[in-house]
Amino acid sequence: MSDSTQIGGFVPRDRDWQPDALTPPYKTSIKRSPQAALLSFPSTLSEETSPVFGHNLIGKLDNDLIHNYAQAGESAIGPRIIVHGRVLDEMGRPVPGALLEVWQANAGGRYRHKKESYLAALDPNFGGCGRVITSADGTYEFRTIQPGPYPWPNGMNDWRPAHIHFSVFGHGFAQRLITQMYFEGDPHIKLCPIVGALKSAEAVDALTALLDMHRTVPMDSRAYKFDIVLRGRRQTSFENRKEGL
Ligand SMILES: [Fe+2]
Repeated sequence: MSDSTQIGGFVPRDRDWQPDALTPPYKTSIKRSPQAALLSFPSTLSEETSPVFGHNLIGKLDNDLIHNYAQAGESAIGPRIIVHGRVLDEMGRPVPGALLEVWQANAGGRYRHKKESYLAALDPNFGGCGRVITSADGTYEFRTIQPGPYPWPNGMNDWRPAHIHFSVFGHGFAQRLITQMYFEGDPHIKLCPIVGALKSAEAVDALTALLDMHRTVPMDSRAYKFDIVLRGRRQTSFENRKEGL
């Protein structure tokens, strides 16, 4: 047993569940994927207890992408939605204090980025990024507009499903996760070469937010539910019970 296990080290990544780095239908994966065998080395305390950040870095409108870049009295154009869910570890325990950063295209499928080349119009009232920290019970919520699908240079005519990018900082670098959230019922999901890198229908479902009518705000916004699972800490024996139970 290593020292890191004794202090409750994180469960290793399940490479059978995660997509392979090299998936040729997703063309940039050919250049991005490692060409040599991966090296393994033990993690250290700093990797298991960091990153640490203050809660005061979150601004008042950071979890409201409808308004956080809008002129006073105006709002972003597009279908208004609430995205909410829980951040859990692999043991099913809530992860409080996790930082979620999100970014997305506007309702027309265009990003606010200097290298963006898609001809869809920019929305002057939409920036496309925000952030939120999970509560004590691991829940989070933000408001935004539903992004549009957009074309990308891969095959002759590939379009990304509507999606929101997520970056999640949990309780250690082992819980750092970059992923994308898709929307239930989008016909582009099954056509996308990036989604196609996932190895099972269950893995695709895990990245697909479900319409949640219970959290819809009548005459205002629909809601989508998206739970996120980070790598869990190994249980550490403490007297006669497991730590945290
Ligand atoms: Fe994207």
